Amino acid sequence: MPPEHAIAAVTHDEPFPYYRGLREERPLFFDGKLNLWVATGHAVVTEAFTHPKLWVRPPAEPVPKALLGTAAGEVFAQLVRMTDGAFHAAHKPAMEQAARRWTLADVARASTQAAQDLRPRLGANAFMAALPVQAMARLLGVPAELLDVTGEQVAHFVRGIGPAAAAQDIEQADSAARALMVQGATLGLAPVQAASRIAFMQQSLDATWALMAHTALMLGQDQALAATADESADGMRRFVAEVERHASPTQNTRRFAAQPLELAGRAIGEGQGVLLVLAAANRDEALNPQPDRFDPARTQPRSMGFGSGRHGCPGTAIAIEIVAACAGWMRSAGQFSSYFGAQTGFRTLGNIRCPLLQE
Ligand code: HEM
Repeated sequence: MPPEHAIAAVTHDEPFPYYRGLREERPLFFDGKLNLWVATGHAVVTEAFTHPKLWVRPPAEPVPKALLGTAAGEVFAQLVRMTDGAFHAAHKPAMEQAARRWTLADVARASTQAAQDLRPRLGANAFMAALPVQAMARLLGVPAELLDVTGEQVAHFVRGIGPAAAAQDIEQADSAARALMVQGATLGLAPVQAASRIAFMQQSLDATWALMAHTALMLGQDQALAATADESADGMRRFVAEVERHASPTQNTRRFAAQPLELAGRAIGEGQGVLLVLAAANRDEALNPQPDRFDPARTQPRSMGFGSGRHGCPGTAIAIEIVAACAGWMRSAGQFSSYFGAQTGFRTLGNIRCPLLQE
């Protein structure tokens, strides 16, 4: 059975034939069940990413109502991921510059050290959950004795600002946000910089976990390509980048019409939401030849999976390096294959396709 809709597709066994059908027959349509426009073609997704009137939050609710008056809400309001207009334009360049201050060698070191610390004491799923945030925390200079608690605080913050958050999650996110802002202030950071510091850890969380899980599965599945990846750090980076394009861990993201507008010739009403299906755009022939083939040796591969336009991911190279360095170290140390087992299911998320693995 094909998935019921584009959000159910995220955790469906075979979403790509469904995505192909949408992309070829109706690259932009209104789904009454989801109450969202759904965009699947590369051209329309790109147009949406660069449209000045399509914003990341509903215009009537820039901060989720449940977070108003909480420290988590204050941090939310200062995240580049969650803002548009003057605030976003003022602070995104600093974020991009901050991301560039780390060399790939810095990131590889942080990822390997995090993996060496976490591998002996966690099962595979908990390991993949902790690795990205702890690698980022190391890059941000979080002291060793605070790495675990910082990772937990970031996870609480992410859960509490999510759409499925219960009252207790919001309470935990609130105290996590306070503690993380104090960490930033102690380093002499202004509130907006302290919020960006949280953003680096928070944004790394679920998508990089999913990228790691897909990479582990693909390395186990294709021995010949895995052997080529094992030959060099660059080979492993190319493998991970192709996993990202092919599996699209971040399957979709959303935009909201700040004013009435036209997208691909269709009229979108003020406040209406648009689901941008990055996973479908990633398999568009207009983006890459033979898009359904997994081929780390592609010349000039292109992916929509890290977004594009003004909200494009500043952590792309960092995320790929965290996963590639971790996989490279674990495989050369003989600690990989016995650790990551077969897939048992998916995490229940509406935007991230994150396999759970047997431990
Ligand atoms: C170390 C890991 C990561 C960091 C530090 C990071 C950081 C960020 C930040 C700060 C943003 C917000 C940019 C803005 O709104 O202007 C962002 C956006 C984004 N990131 Fe990442 N990210 C990481 C990993 C990933 C991974 C692994 C993926 C995909 C598999 C991903 C996909 C995206 C996408 C699609 C967006 C744009 C969302 C949108 O436009 O709606 N990120 N990232």
